[in-house]
Amino acid sequence: MDNFTFHNPTRIHFGRGQIAAIANEIPADAKVLLLAGGGSIKANGVYDQVIAALGERTVHEHWGVEANPDFDTLLPAVELCRQESVDWVLAVGGGSVLDGAKLICAAVPYAGDPWQILLDNGASVKSALPLGTVLTLPATGSEANGASVISRRAIKEKLHFISPSVYPVFSVLDPATTLSLPERQVANGIGDAFCHVIEQYLTYPAHAAVQDQFAESVLRVLIAEGPKTLADRNDYDARANLVWAATCALNGLVGAGVPQDWATHTIGHEITALHGIDHARTLAIVLPSLLSAQKDTKRAKLLQYAERVWGITTGTEDERVAGAIAQTREFYESIGIPTRFAAYEVAAEVAPQVAQRLAARGLTGIGEHGDLTPERIEAILRDAA
Ligand code: NZQ
Ligand code: ZN
Repeated sequence: MDNFTFHNPTRIHFGRGQIAAIANEIPADAKVLLLAGGGSIKANGVYDQVIAALGERTVHEHWGVEANPDFDTLLPAVELCRQESVDWVLAVGGGSVLDGAKLICAAVPYAGDPWQILLDNGASVKSALPLGTVLTLPATGSEANGASVISRRAIKEKLHFISPSVYPVFSVLDPATTLSLPERQVANGIGDAFCHVIEQYLTYPAHAAVQDQFAESVLRVLIAEGPKTLADRNDYDARANLVWAATCALNGLVGAGVPQDWATHTIGHEITALHGIDHARTLAIVLPSLLSAQKDTKRAKLLQYAERVWGITTGTEDERVAGAIAQTREFYESIGIPTRFAAYEVAAEVAPQVAQRLAARGLTGIGEHGDLTPERIEAILRDAA
């Protein structure tokens, strides 16, 4: 196991009715920016609960944060915060609203062009406004991590930043608020959380028994509870398990002290930037092909994954590895997420395009061994046609 420092400062309020906890989290004299998306929180009653919990506090609202939050949508909110001396941000919605809020929190005290925060992946962030969140879509883990992914459609970019300054101070996770999600978004959430665990687990053995077995548990829970919650959206218990699994998938525990991959995400973000495909769907396209391409360097972990996650214990090693990759593809397909470009009507040119964009960014060797070159990435994407 590698050395690590683990500190996750986000207080989680989990369960029914927990939106009320906001009243004790945000100081009574705070000036609050409430950040929201396109309106789902008005339709499902979450907004009313949040306003009730905020009581007499001064609240400014900024709506319209879209899926894959856009830099240009967020900038006016940074201005608003500065003008009104806002000193707390409350993000209410899915990962996009939370990620957008993180950029706002970092940008308000930032001297200079906030796009620089994305260009240096957060290295220049020194402070941020305090952030609270009410998460309504289990998927990204943004509710309990220091990461944010921001798109800028005007220049076809999608970049991320990571900073300890933007961990939420608190997050409310009430599974009941997620019951209004359309099936497609529930499936996206399952698929995204699944891939987050895979990126931190399916590399090479690092004598990290706790991290491995925790990762395998989260994967098994997603495989068992995901279909249940898709089949019956009113099954609170299944949804609660999905919500907590998605948080545990990317709150730092699974990935502490172990090698990590993240190539599927790095490639997937380029596909979203170019074609606007939902984040989780890009992962479903890339992951099976990538695992096949990396089956030699990932062999030991693929065999472990085959046995402990999919129960594959017979056949030759090659057959077990192939079986685990096939099960992974089948899992995405079974929750309604196609795993081939053809299903999204994306032409084969995407393969060299993505490879060139990553090369231009200096990403000439990604993955846990730094062995995924632009040429190999192109081959992986051609294989996913
Ligand atoms: O905008 P509204 O009206 O709220 O509708 C949203 C949106 O259209 C809707 N929705 C959310 N909660 C709902 C609901 N509809 C009905 N009932 C509810 N309870 O769902 C749609 C999608 O929301 P979005 O926030 O975009 O989805 P998600 O949570 O999957 O976030 C995706 C973004 O997160 C980034 C992705 O790249 C993408 O930009 N990621 C962030 C990460 C992080 N911060 O750690 C890691 C991830 O790997 C990921 O990259
Ligand atoms: Zn993701």
